Amino acid sequence: MLSLPDSQQKRIIAALDTPDAGRAASWAAALASHVGLVKIGLELFVASGPGVVASVAAAGAPIFLDLKLHDIPNTVAGATRAAASLGVAMLTIHAAGGPAMVAAAREAAEGAGGRRPMILAVTVLTSLGAADLAATGVAGGPAQQVLRLARLAVDSGADGLVCSAHEVAQLRAGLGPGVPLIVPGIRPAGADAGDQKRVMTPSQAVLAGADWLVIGRPITGAADPAEAARAIAASLG
Ligand code: C5P
Repeated sequence: MLSLPDSQQKRIIAALDTPDAGRAASWAAALASHVGLVKIGLELFVASGPGVVASVAAAGAPIFLDLKLHDIPNTVAGATRAAASLGVAMLTIHAAGGPAMVAAAREAAEGAGGRRPMILAVTVLTSLGAADLAATGVAGGPAQQVLRLARLAVDSGADGLVCSAHEVAQLRAGLGPGVPLIVPGIRPAGADAGDQKRVMTPSQAVLAGADWLVIGRPITGAADPAEAARAIAASLG
């Protein structure tokens, strides 16, 4: 399994958000030696098929496969084995799938041996507010539910958590230092926030307790993505 980043550059996970496999592969080639991992999300995976993992991985960076699996334990275990056979380094699941589902993903990942994927749990989607949660029967609001699902996931075998920039300090305080936290919603000082509402700079997020930073458009939308990634790593000191 991947170990915690040993350099500022390796903290960066570049999100390859495009449906176009060729574009994803060329971003990966430009970025592989300037970031820790590259992220393939649902759009790219569904549009291009699982072969996109090999074509992106050929550039040399480990792959974060962000599929946010959520199904019965047997199905999630099978999908986790299939993802592990693609050689991915990180895989996301929904903590809301429950303890048995999280445990099944971990057990299936273990089957891949020493180079198994890290199982990362997503708690409450940042697109859900208190009213959305109440509509699904969850009272108490997002902050409480995030912590509840984070504890459930870690207790059930998740190797780490994906959490938003505004949750990272709360989770670091609630869970202690041992749980890897992977944080999107990052914008270098002065960068366009786009559709992200509550953003943090890379150094603020690391100070708050983030281990890895997921960064998309500030890198892939730059005229020189490799230089943008280098500048972000440099801003981390
Ligand atoms: O371009 P940008 O830096 O906003 O991309 C962030 C990446 O992190 C996207 O791939 C997005 O799907 C993902 N993400 C996020 N917020 C979350 C979870 C994942 O932005 N809460």
